[in-house]
Amino acid sequence: MQEGKYISIDKSIIAEGCAYDFAIYCSIRENTQIKQVKQKGVLLENNDLLFINKVKNLYVDRSEHSSYEQFYEAHFGKKPSVGNPITFTQKIDTMYKNASNALNELFNNPEKLSNYKESKKVVNELVDSVLDEDFAIKSLMQIATHDYYTHTHSINVSIYALSLGNFLGFKASELAELGEAALLHDLGKSKIDSKIINKNGSLTKDEFDTMKKHPSFGVSLGLKLGIKNKKVLEGIKYHHEKMDGSGYPNGLYNEEIPIYAKIVGMCDIFDALTSERSYKKAMTSFEALKLMKTEMSKHIDLKLLNQMILMFK
Ligand SMILES: [Fe+2]
Ligand SMILES: [Fe+2]
Repeated sequence: MQEGKYISIDKSIIAEGCAYDFAIYCSIRENTQIKQVKQKGVLLENNDLLFINKVKNLYVDRSEHSSYEQFYEAHFGKKPSVGNPITFTQKIDTMYKNASNALNELFNNPEKLSNYKESKKVVNELVDSVLDEDFAIKSLMQIATHDYYTHTHSINVSIYALSLGNFLGFKASELAELGEAALLHDLGKSKIDSKIINKNGSLTKDEFDTMKKHPSFGVSLGLKLGIKNKKVLEGIKYHHEKMDGSGYPNGLYNEEIPIYAKIVGMCDIFDALTSERSYKKAMTSFEALKLMKTEMSKHIDLKLLNQMILMFK
């Protein structure tokens, strides 16, 4: 979306049976996804009014703002007050902040159903963004921060996974499943001693054995939260499996690894490489993809990796 592409308008212009010389857009919550409510020249019906009553703000495209001003002046005898342009930066900041808060709560209290429900909203919002043609993939990538915390890492992985899923032509319902698996892939880490999770440098064998339990812990938590979708649960459980069978927990090979788990696992590696940690600098996307292609070709599904490379191009 371009900076300031949409400008807020006065809701009082809305009336049943009216058609406007400009398209009307809305955001359901503050600064979130912008959707078209009514096309230019099409009559507003009662259903539209019911919907509009529920939404937070209405907007017009900047290119049609003068038509809105003329309409307003003709009906109210004065110019409308100047609406605020919704900026891209505002939008992504708010979206990331909401997502980060929701995930923080979930990781602190992973068994609380309301926290899980909030995380579902995050997935929906991310899926909406991915499906929004104006919201270019590059813009979505800007949301990803490069500091590594389990909850922000989970949001980043979801963004990459959903972008790739969309690039691969997944349906909205598949994106919702993939996004959920990606967002919750490391939820099981909330059950592991934070000293191990946050340890700088390599883990001892015992510590690593403990760490390896996080995919299964994640599935147990998911089941407790009422997740029944097998594909989502598999995405969580198998995100550390590798194509050559050297991964965990089950040592699955190649096509035994479900596609959501492959995508989440690959995006997991990508985010770890492109994030800054106290003991290492962040790689650029290009460096990370190159390293994945040259040094991890036995672990990652190369067909998917090539698609990811194409997506970044
Ligand atoms: Fe993990
Ligand atoms: Fe992860």
